[in-house]
Amino acid sequence: MSKISLALICGGKSVEHEVSLISAKNIIAALDFSKYELNLFAVAKDGSFRFYADHNDFLDNQDNLDIVSLKETGFVSVAWSVIDGKGQAVLPAGNKIIDAVFPIMHGSFAEDGKMQGFLEMLNLPYVGPDVLASSISMDKEITKKLVELAGIKVAKYLSFNTRNRSEINFAKVEAELGLPVFVKPANSGSSVGINRAKDETSFNHAVEEAFSVDHKILIESAIVGREIECSVLGNHENLIAGEVGEIVPSAKHGFYSYDAKYLDESGAALLIPAPLEPAKKKEVQELAKKIFSTCQCEGMSRVDSFLTANGEIVFNEINTIPGFTQISMYPKLMMAETGMSYSALIDSLITLAMDRYSRNSKILFEKKMVE
Ligand SMILES: Nc1ncnc2c1ncn2[C@@H]1O[C@H](COP(=O)(O)OP(=O)(O)O)[C@@H](O)[C@H]1O
Ligand SMILES: [Mg+2]
Repeated sequence: MSKISLALICGGKSVEHEVSLISAKNIIAALDFSKYELNLFAVAKDGSFRFYADHNDFLDNQDNLDIVSLKETGFVSVAWSVIDGKGQAVLPAGNKIIDAVFPIMHGSFAEDGKMQGFLEMLNLPYVGPDVLASSISMDKEITKKLVELAGIKVAKYLSFNTRNRSEINFAKVEAELGLPVFVKPANSGSSVGINRAKDETSFNHAVEEAFSVDHKILIESAIVGREIECSVLGNHENLIAGEVGEIVPSAKHGFYSYDAKYLDESGAALLIPAPLEPAKKKEVQELAKKIFSTCQCEGMSRVDSFLTANGEIVFNEINTIPGFTQISMYPKLMMAETGMSYSALIDSLITLAMDRYSRNSKILFEKKMVE
């Protein structure tokens, strides 16, 4: 059997560029090279596409998330073209035919439908949710609206954008949501730009910081509860929910901030499984699948919620290209529940991408015949 030509695209223009590089490194380490010919692409912070011929040598300071970066040597610039109906990478040494893409990039221009739209234009199968699902899931306000419509509880929130920013009033926020509140960019990730505010000074600072990341922000009432996460894998009706995990941020950080996530080794305890009654675990898993479908997701996503003291599950957010770093929960939770290996999980994600592509191509073809 000939090998699948896999394009792994990492990096990207978002604040999660570095997280993506580490995710890519882990995927490469787990990839079954008897099945795949790996082609490593990276999007530099300026948006330019690079191809690294040696996928083992594309990072500087790869053991330190704080300073990891793409190597400034060993790459060539890439252009993309569609030839005989399919996307190919145009390289100085000749074109690369691609069978499937794993865009392991997080945040804006990566996880929000923009990269997915680019890959649709290239007519290439890709891992993770499609354009619409990615866009829905990236915007924390739109996601909350849809999830609420499906009858699932979310934190009370207010949203503001650059147009009505002047209407933000601390007294009103306090009256409506209580204190403390969480102030966050509508489109971000890895806790970048997120702060908990307990008084007017910290609130004003938090609003300023959130607006420095996005033109739309959410102000949410703080949910007191345990932070639980569940991985989902599959296309449409054949969904698998992973184990339920729990994040326990250390008292020093107070919540699961960027520092607690990535920079402080003892920033948070990750519990797999989360200590839950079997019935509660099942409830979290069923809800995760419902949220995944509500957001139109296919392939993979990680659904994050809070579990309150009275047993209520409050949805927080969904991540369509979750991290694949050493501490990342998506692969750990899926492997813990199913027993599959890291490389089998990657196989499964690529197979789902190719299955969806075939299904959609067939529909497009049949539609053409009807017309
Ligand atoms: N409404 C809330 N109540 C309590 N904690 C929250 C709330 N919103 C966010 N947090 C805390 O902030 C962290 C990051 O927020 P989240 O919405 O998950 O953004 P990101 O996409 O950056 O991960 C959460 O993991 C949690 O610790
Ligand atoms: Mg989160």
